[in-house]
Amino acid sequence: MKRKQRKEPFAKLQWHSRNEDLVQASVEYTPTTLVNPSKLPAKKSDRSKLLLGDNLAVMAALQDELKGQFHLIYMDPPFLSGKRYPARIGRNEDSRRPEDWETIEGYQDTWKDGAAYLDMLYPRLLQAHQLLSHNGTFYLHLDWHACAYARVLLDEIFGADRLINEIIWVYHGPSPIKTAFKRKHDTILVYSKSAEYTFNADAVRIPYNPSTIKTFESSAKAGFGKMPDLERGKVPEDWWYFPVVARLHSERTGYPTQKPEALLERIILASSNPGELVGDFFCGSGTSLIVANRLGRRWVGCDASPLATSTTYRRFLLKETEPSFEYYQAKERASDCSEKMEIDVMIEEMTVEVSFQGIVDDAEKLFPGCIIYWEVDWNFNGQIFASKSQIVRGWKDEEIDLQIRHAYPNQGKYQIAARCTDHHGKVRESIISIDIPSPRPQ
Ligand SMILES: C[S@@+](CC[C@H](N)C(=O)[O-])C[C@H]1O[C@@H](n2cnc3c(N)ncnc32)[C@H](O)[C@@H]1O
Repeated sequence: MKRKQRKEPFAKLQWHSRNEDLVQASVEYTPTTLVNPSKLPAKKSDRSKLLLGDNLAVMAALQDELKGQFHLIYMDPPFLSGKRYPARIGRNEDSRRPEDWETIEGYQDTWKDGAAYLDMLYPRLLQAHQLLSHNGTFYLHLDWHACAYARVLLDEIFGADRLINEIIWVYHGPSPIKTAFKRKHDTILVYSKSAEYTFNADAVRIPYNPSTIKTFESSAKAGFGKMPDLERGKVPEDWWYFPVVARLHSERTGYPTQKPEALLERIILASSNPGELVGDFFCGSGTSLIVANRLGRRWVGCDASPLATSTTYRRFLLKETEPSFEYYQAKERASDCSEKMEIDVMIEEMTVEVSFQGIVDDAEKLFPGCIIYWEVDWNFNGQIFASKSQIVRGWKDEEIDLQIRHAYPNQGKYQIAARCTDHHGKVRESIISIDIPSPRPQ
């Protein structure tokens, strides 16, 4: 069959530092943690993965194993907004008392200029394009700051004829703007890699408006005689209303610019099938990954911020019973940290209880008030931490359990590794060797 000639884009974006010789710095790519390893698929490439690190290096490293494997990539990068976003970590979010909110640095969307922003975005779009399968779909979530520039870049990378949709996500909320209309929409650019892409129209149908139903019921001539299937519902238009994740929303993690699960659900249902691979390389609090997992998709998520990956990790521990994924940490490892987690271990026959005592460095001992989850590997192999038991703090909880018990099936010598993660995403660990005696005769 004759291949259709690609059309050259009718416009090309120039900026002063545009560079086509992109250095693809790669990273070490071995998991540091296996979460609930007994539930992981045997085939390594089938495992869902969460990676902490710069996504350019991470995507470059993933090409070896996963080039052309992603059916859907959703990217929600910084927007070129020029803002710094704090993350809320406290449990007290009374809107009348913002001075009481506990915040830490979330992430920065600040750039020297627009060119510096495009220097960041462009190579990441190229990497994502390579990771996408021949029938894959790419969603880029932006707003008015950078959307027009990204559209021209994506036309170049995918081809102008591969733009499937420009989706407008509308929402409402307070705004300080007094001299213009309130800016209350984001734009999601949707491109496919080829003409054969997945679009599951039936999976995303919504009911017709009551007024449309009334019109069709009252007049046979409505719609020029074309009667829609009112029962089946309609495929949504390209403008979507979903409320933002507001302060009191049950989905709220405190991570800045968290997107609503309903928005991601529509995207994932429309553009992927169960078992397929979904990627999000600016995953933040992990919204797309949580939804992909719930819908039976495999997923790969990445973020450069430990706060983001620990929020995602915590979200999985809180949402799913025994979630299973691989965690990669390209930055500082827990074992490099000078502070240590202090634990006590009590052995009673074949059962071991680990009690979390605090975090210690040379000078002081901290109470684990800032800990968001802690985990134990009951048989640490000295290299990869197998997270087999976890205690996680709920979003609004004051307390966290400080004991975990485990019954060993066999006597022998074991290494127990325990890890705790604080609300900045910083990890400390502790490793203790134990000897489980043979059971006493009855
Ligand atoms: C708009 S937020 C994503 C929010 C996310 N969709 C959610 O629902 O929570 C953008 C994220 O991109 C991350 N990020 C920015 N630059 C990055 C980079 N070079 N590599 C990986 N992550 C990056 C930030 O840390 C931030 O979490």
